Amino acid sequence: MKVLATRRYPGPAFDELADVEVRPLSELQEPRPEVEALAVANEPVPLELLPGLRIVGNFGVGYDRLGIEQLRRRGVAVTNTPGVLDAATADLTFALILAARRRVVEGDRRVRAGEWTGAWPDGFLAEELTGSTLGIVGLGRIGRAVARRAAGFELRVLYTQRHRSDAALGEFRELDELLREADIVTIHAPLTAETHGLIDARRLALMKDGAALVNTARGEIVDEAALAAELVSGRISAGLDVFAHEPHVPEELLPLANVVLTPHLGSGTRQTREAMTEIVVANILAFERGESLLTPV
Ligand code: DGY
Repeated sequence: MKVLATRRYPGPAFDELADVEVRPLSELQEPRPEVEALAVANEPVPLELLPGLRIVGNFGVGYDRLGIEQLRRRGVAVTNTPGVLDAATADLTFALILAARRRVVEGDRRVRAGEWTGAWPDGFLAEELTGSTLGIVGLGRIGRAVARRAAGFELRVLYTQRHRSDAALGEFRELDELLREADIVTIHAPLTAETHGLIDARRLALMKDGAALVNTARGEIVDEAALAAELVSGRISAGLDVFAHEPHVPEELLPLANVVLTPHLGSGTRQTREAMTEIVVANILAFERGESLLTPV
């Protein structure tokens, strides 16, 4: 089966694909009817150029940019990589929480700029993390991994969830209540029609003065212009790993000391990315053998 992969996905499992061509979708000029499988990282699938496509192995858990409805209508199977990236994403969430709350990046910049001139007891105070209230928007697999880590920091955990079931990990709140109560709000929902723009200007305004917003899910879940306005005002801080138009980051965020910016690193560890490749490849090979898919969408 001819496989097109939009890049060489990391790890040894990639070499198990016997007939694979590595080429970004932007380089496809002519229809490629011989391609039956596509390995892609949540990029729009050009079905008009891939008329023989039978399976898409998405490198990632989120598949919001693939064009899933169109793929379904055409009967193309789709798989994703749930589970293996929960720990890495939850770890990065805590890196951003700590960085935003404890002004880690700002401190680093000060040192490098030669601005650390006084003694350590002179100013530059941050907010304590231990004992504060964490609001988790979406208590799915990644949200639960964040909640488990929160116990180690003695955080009080509030959460929103479509189907309430995990009372042991924290206290359920409606979203508006959670935003009013939390010191740190972290987003772990998938991007869907319901979550697009979920954290809009009105909801951002509900956050406490001095609270922090962390987003390792999808940029489009937050109204990016409204968030930028809140950050420019200095009322809240943020740790942002995702943006609405990646790799574009709103210009006005760049000079701000109260926001930490990372380039979509949630799943970005060698171990996790290699495990994601294993799942993509295992799904494509299972499909080729006529076996059940491991992680169908
Ligand atoms: C995903 O899997 O959807 C992530 O965005 C990749 O880090």
